[in-house]
Amino acid sequence: MTEQNELQTQESQKILDLLFSYMPKIAAERKMDNLLVLMADLGRSIVSADRCSLWLVDEDSNELWTKVAHGVKELRIPADAGFAGYSAQTGESLLIADAYQDNRFDRRSDEKTHYRTASVMTVPLMNSQGKVMGVFQAINKVGETKVFSREDLERLGLTAVYSAKTVESAMLTSELEATQREIIHILGEASESRSQETGGHIQRVAGISAKLAVAMGLPAEEVDKIRLATPMHDLGKIGIPDSVLNKPGKLTDEEYAIMKTHSELGYTMLASSKRKLLRYAANVARSHHERWDGRGYPLGLKGNEIPLAGRICAVADVLDALSSPRCYKAPWPEERVKEEFLKMSGSQFQPEVVDALMANWDEIFACYRNAPHDGDDSTGESRR
Ligand code: C2E
Ligand code: SIN
Ligand code: SIN
Ligand code: FE
Ligand code: FE
Repeated sequence: MTEQNELQTQESQKILDLLFSYMPKIAAERKMDNLLVLMADLGRSIVSADRCSLWLVDEDSNELWTKVAHGVKELRIPADAGFAGYSAQTGESLLIADAYQDNRFDRRSDEKTHYRTASVMTVPLMNSQGKVMGVFQAINKVGETKVFSREDLERLGLTAVYSAKTVESAMLTSELEATQREIIHILGEASESRSQETGGHIQRVAGISAKLAVAMGLPAEEVDKIRLATPMHDLGKIGIPDSVLNKPGKLTDEEYAIMKTHSELGYTMLASSKRKLLRYAANVARSHHERWDGRGYPLGLKGNEIPLAGRICAVADVLDALSSPRCYKAPWPEERVKEEFLKMSGSQFQPEVVDALMANWDEIFACYRNAPHDGDDSTGESRR
């Protein structure tokens, strides 16, 4: 092997090592900000640049933006500014030995940062439709030569192909998540709009459930799932006839039996979904009227047989039912609601959830103080 070949082999090995050390971190990262920083670090190591940044096109504002380090505010420049802007507009790569000899250079960035740019490389990132979605920019080659080589440009180009795919799939993921959140919200609202109750039940039950979950020390990921899934707990009410759902006053046994099918109905609507979160929500819908002592419905599950999110949603749901006006009852006074939970702890509700409620009572109950109580025609009597 010639000396030249050997050097090239060593160089390739170094690049492979870098890729393998960065890939798991990049694959595990879901936040776009952090991805940009990670991939810029990767690019900088691969081409031995002093600085490297990954700019993304923001079509709404016609700018390029980037994050250069964790915790630092994002940087923004006009979409056609400097070398990065040139690559973004034309889709061409640039290999520049001395920035100050090139009229595409935007000196303002050096003036602002008191940095001296000399050699520069830029490579556009193309999305799967062949459109420029961003630009990789490396500044100031480190080492003897001080200028980037054609090999460096090729390496940055390969890194850009890999980065483009990563950025595109991260964008798609966050788009999907936003869509999913929106659908969940719409579904929740749909079940609420059918019944003539004061608005906000869905959102209050979700908010209270999340607060209870936090107070019980659940991991952030579980709290998130609970916050997103509980708005659908009454989705099955969509299938309950209006005469039952909005009947003023007490339900007959027969009507109550119809009403009680809403939890299984909600489960059926959601359970066949391909989305994990919707299947999680299906279990909340089915279990939110189970009781800790096993006397609830539809399955009569007992204690820890009831999914945790269902046990939490049960407390939030009943808190809201008692504290708000319903078509069949007036809101109860605060002290009576509190006493009811203490009385039902260990029978209707898991004691730990009631403990979490009591420990945060003032904060959680705050949304019912000064709530309007007009427009209800009920006696305030309870069925039980
Ligand atoms: P909702 O109004 O959202 O009530 C949710 C749950 O709050 C009830 O589920 C019940 O577990 C709890 N709850 C209500 N009042 C009390 C109470 O005095 N003490 C205790 N410990 N818990 C109470 P449930 O019973 O399965 O009812 C499900 C849904 O059926 C209710 O949702 C409501 O929409 C409807 N519903 C129940 N009873 C009546 C009624 O008498 N008239 C009318 N029109 N609807 C009713
Ligand atoms: C709810 O969506 O649970 C409130 C409406 C009702 O109780 O009928
Ligand atoms: C139930 O019917 O048991 C709950 C509703 C109420 O108590 O008013
Ligand atoms: Fe319900
Ligand atoms: Fe409810």
